[in-house]
Amino acid sequence: TDLALIRNFSIIAHIDHGKSTLADRLIQRTGGLSDREMSAQVLDNMDIEKERGITIKAQTVRLNYTAKDGLTYELNLMDTPGHVDFAYEVSRSLAACEGALLVVDAAQGVEAQTLANVYQSIEHDHEIVPVINKIDLPAAEPEKVRAEIEDIIGIDASDAVLASAKSGIGIDEVLEAIVTKIPPPKGMRDKPLTAMLVDSWYDPYLGVVILVRVIDGVIKKGLQVKFMQGGTEHLIDRVGAFTPKRVDLPELGPGEIGFITAQIKEVEQAKVGDTVTTVKGGATQALPGYKEVQPVVFCGLFPVDANDFEKLRESIGKLRLNDASFSFEMESSAALGFGFRCGFLGLLHLEIIQERLSREYDLDLITTAPSVVYRLTMTDGSVKELHNPADMPDPVKIAEMEEPWIKATIYTPDEYLGSILKLCQDRRGIQIDLTYIGGRAQVTYELPLNEVVFDFYDRLKSISRGYASFDYEQIGLREGDLVMMNILVNNEPVDALSMIVHRSQAEARGRGLVERLKELIPRHMFKVPIQAAIGAKVIARETISAMRKDVTAKCYGGDISRKKKLLDKQKEGKKRMREYGNVSIPQEAFIAALRMG
Ligand code: GTP
Repeated sequence: TDLALIRNFSIIAHIDHGKSTLADRLIQRTGGLSDREMSAQVLDNMDIEKERGITIKAQTVRLNYTAKDGLTYELNLMDTPGHVDFAYEVSRSLAACEGALLVVDAAQGVEAQTLANVYQSIEHDHEIVPVINKIDLPAAEPEKVRAEIEDIIGIDASDAVLASAKSGIGIDEVLEAIVTKIPPPKGMRDKPLTAMLVDSWYDPYLGVVILVRVIDGVIKKGLQVKFMQGGTEHLIDRVGAFTPKRVDLPELGPGEIGFITAQIKEVEQAKVGDTVTTVKGGATQALPGYKEVQPVVFCGLFPVDANDFEKLRESIGKLRLNDASFSFEMESSAALGFGFRCGFLGLLHLEIIQERLSREYDLDLITTAPSVVYRLTMTDGSVKELHNPADMPDPVKIAEMEEPWIKATIYTPDEYLGSILKLCQDRRGIQIDLTYIGGRAQVTYELPLNEVVFDFYDRLKSISRGYASFDYEQIGLREGDLVMMNILVNNEPVDALSMIVHRSQAEARGRGLVERLKELIPRHMFKVPIQAAIGAKVIARETISAMRKDVTAKCYGGDISRKKKLLDKQKEGKKRMREYGNVSIPQEAFIAALRMG
């Protein structure tokens, strides 16, 4: 395709502002699919994405659009994941485009994630086309939002397209704006091949499918290519694009986005951001911006029923086929038996994997407290990375302990600001900036990641009734006075409940935890002490008094069927318990332990 007729763009938006709905409209309008094939939100193709309304895997579609100037353009619409956990994938997708549609909800206005995404887009020198969506809503204030885009983001919004993706208003105007405002890509056909690996996923029929953006040169079937970062060589056996149906193409030329396959079995071999070039006469310099992504949040996943271990192993293996950023290794715990220590890009990523395991693979799981990665400098000078509290060495051998920090940007209506500042302060936050725009506040805090992984996001949403938005980036390691807190039930440490906390938070955390456990652990025939301790020092304690729980006593011996029902119910309850020493701990206790007030 003639470079002048190509437009590569992405859509940036805050969650729920209508990105997927608009993408669907663009596909429908350009005839990529018949009405019958047009299932709701074709771009979000995983069930969870549909249900939670978030985009996880980037997908790109090619649309052919005949513009008012009579020419037919090739539009490559790149869908980007909408969450901070996937910031690196987003950055590579953006690097493959020349422009972006900025979708802002006419009733909600600009929000934190809109800002984060738009700044990233500006960094990639994108031409930004503002689209004010949902103008059909009674609460829509398009003029106010137009002013907000100009004041807050600082781009010209005088000719922002007013649209309703839902009712199909303004769709032609969006398409014309893409063609007239976003510049075509640059590239040279007769230079050595350089293509950026934008995304990869596992397809049961094709093996690993790789999405590429060709910068220079041409990629076609039969070509022997190498991945410059990964260092592997592959024979291209298929080249094509999604319209969104998969179509095979003879080649992808400069400026084009499409897919290739090369009999690759694992996504791990096709790393996002890598450079694809030919083995013979290839490029000598890899594209900039490549990064090896590392999991930042770790937790243990254990089957509630120990017999499900093999099933869990298999299911985790299958998920991993499609997600190279998620890591796992076998782990055993005295309390929970055999399971896996898993690493994630962030909390949302953790939740997604956890949910897919329980939903798609029908697994009942216990999740241990999420932990960040600490760096330990030992007294002998060696350096260790710690991502499981169970591996914490003897504190006397640790010279220094560092924890990861983040910079968080929170955007909120004024009325919730007070509670939000308190939340950040309680979580050891350092306020960096506070500004007001209209009736809203934007506040920036530096926070230790370990204070955020527990329930920060849930708390933020609940104190702001869902109005506050949150975005973060990692800012490196800082020294912290961190200690290992053990929970002892009937005088025995329960490894799955151990956690690393800041000394100043330990007592409050410990107290909250033992109080909660007291409510959740049923009475036994003996007294059960529950303690939180740092080393040998007990910092909080509760005791569950002894009681024989005879559930059938209430039935006065008479009604046999009722008695049987109660016993069955009790048996059912037992299944979800973990025997620990001679104490039974219900599954809910482990989960509740993660929800700190
Ligand atoms: P993420 O995938 O979570 O980033 O969300 P999104 O930005 O893709 O939003 P999506 O397209 O899923 O739309 C969110 C909700 O807004 C859905 O319930 C849509 O039906 C609705 N919606 C989208 N566009 C419009 C619109 O123009 N008007 C109205 N009234 N509702 C809309």
